[in-house]
Amino acid sequence: MPQSPAPQLWQPLAIGSVRVDPPLCLAPMAGVSDEAFRIIAKDYGCGLVFTEMVSSRALCYGNRHTEEMLEFSDAVRPIAVQLFGSEPDVMAQAAARVEKRWRPDLLDINMGCPAPKVVANGDGAALLKDPARAVAVAAAVVRAVHAPVTVKMRSGWDQSAPDTAVDLAQRLQDAGVAAITLHPRTRSQFYGGHSDWSLIRRVKERLQIPVIGNGDVATPEDALTMWQQTGCDGIMIGRGALGAPWIFREVQHFLRTGSLLPPVSAQERLSVALRHLRLAVAQKGERVAVPEMRKHLAWYLKGLPGAARIRQQINQIATYPDLEALLRSLLSDLA
Ligand SMILES: Cc1cc2nc3c(=O)[nH]c(=O)nc-3n(C[C@H](O)[C@H](O)[C@H](O)COP(=O)(O)O)c2cc1C
Repeated sequence: MPQSPAPQLWQPLAIGSVRVDPPLCLAPMAGVSDEAFRIIAKDYGCGLVFTEMVSSRALCYGNRHTEEMLEFSDAVRPIAVQLFGSEPDVMAQAAARVEKRWRPDLLDINMGCPAPKVVANGDGAALLKDPARAVAVAAAVVRAVHAPVTVKMRSGWDQSAPDTAVDLAQRLQDAGVAAITLHPRTRSQFYGGHSDWSLIRRVKERLQIPVIGNGDVATPEDALTMWQQTGCDGIMIGRGALGAPWIFREVQHFLRTGSLLPPVSAQERLSVALRHLRLAVAQKGERVAVPEMRKHLAWYLKGLPGAARIRQQINQIATYPDLEALLRSLLSDLA
């Protein structure tokens, strides 16, 4: 039975002067949300893409690999570049450099990464333990750039301070931040359990700036439920897009019409996998792209007959022509 559509969600999201239409975002994902994946997500109707998180310190040192992560094409705009770091002056300097050279539409600050090597430096989710520093970082970045500045945060460090998200989000808004994305898990939860969407509602009720809800949206129905339960202004999808970038088309269709699209065909899965591979090789070269693409190809193949065997074959392949030939032969088997 079709559920009632939610046309109001299709108000484009306005983040400062930046229009996000539809209000669906591809999450920043280290090792995943590179230019190849962003192009594909965009083609399936994603309204805003994020880069992988980039170190503010590495940028200030002029690290070449870090700079390469910031290359993007106009076709994927609007785009947010996500920076991590906890020194206000370093973050401000990095943000100003990024704005001058790459001109992203938005600058996003990471206040959610739970990785031990990141929090050990006081960065990412560690900022949630030090709200004064988090606000100082945001204020410094806001002062340093013209583009709107956004923050992506978790709900807190651990369960001991349940109001962290609401209080910090308010202070970040006061510091000039133009939108907040909330992934309502604490740092100590990592990816365990289910995200607590009631916190998205609480933050939305408190703030005037847009709030983007994130966490555990894996189907069109999840997107509708998150929106109905929280009143969020936009929805961000991470893991639900892995090997399934068409989720943006599916969510958009469901929220517009109340009906579900038929599942994506095996042909489409394989064709998109092939395109993703081609884009990745064009961007990064065979030597880097082929090993990186193995995980994406495994995600695309999930659920197809013989997926485990094909995955093993893929893991043995070291060159682009061989990988392309394998995907082509799988496609022609389907014809
Ligand atoms: C492989 C991977 C890499 C991630 N890298 C980042 C990152 O660079 N910056 C960030 O803010 N969040 C990062 N995240 C968190 C996601 O952006 C998102 O908040 C989280 O996965 C919850 O959303 P989901 O349930 O839709 O996946 C990453 C998540 C995954 C699975």
